[in-house]
Amino acid sequence: MKVLVLYTTIDGNTEAVAQAIAEKTDADVSKIVRVSKRHAYGIDLFRIWLEVVFKRRPGIFPFKHDPRDYDLIFIGTPVWFDTYNPVFNTLFEVIKIYDRKIALFSTGSTDKQKALDKFSKKLKDSVILGRYHCIEPIFEDEDSETQRILNEAADWAKGIADEAAKMIEEEEFERRKTIYKT
Ligand SMILES: Cc1cc2nc3c(=O)[nH]c(=O)nc-3n(C[C@H](O)[C@H](O)[C@H](O)COP(=O)(O)O)c2cc1C
Repeated sequence: MKVLVLYTTIDGNTEAVAQAIAEKTDADVSKIVRVSKRHAYGIDLFRIWLEVVFKRRPGIFPFKHDPRDYDLIFIGTPVWFDTYNPVFNTLFEVIKIYDRKIALFSTGSTDKQKALDKFSKKLKDSVILGRYHCIEPIFEDEDSETQRILNEAADWAKGIADEAAKMIEEEEFERRKTIYKT
């Protein structure tokens, strides 16, 4: 089974979760990097707000892997003003992701999961196997707490990957049954 982790980040929290997931599930990793950089402070906060409110599609650099080549895709975002990062507006415009097995994750400063709700709506033509949200793992004071959160994310991802593998096996079994019938 081919697994991809697709994510974006500014300060590294979502990246830390993405890496933990990728290590545990033996996945390829693609980071979505925007062309015009944004910082998480100052005037950029207003620019980001505008992008989110007006659902803008900032330019992104080409990334390594085509999600459509994968059986299972983990998609991760930082929460920005209760929604997902606008780079995903660009991504969803360029690449139509449907009929895939998908799992969604986000990091935020609160436990509100609105970005994941919006992701789920946007990706409704795929099978969403699960969602995971955590609060800023790398901003934790204690390394042990950071590690605990990353382990939790990795374990969640492993459960999702096991479930996806089982589904694919069953689908293959059904497909073969159909072939041999005809
Ligand atoms: C512009 C901006 C808006 C944000 N809005 C929210 C929000 O609505 N809800 C929330 O829980 N966290 C919010 N945050 C906090 C980030 O989601 C959080 O720090 C996240 O872990 C950052 O991910 P990153 O380190 O991968 O960039 C916001 C941060 C920024 C920079």
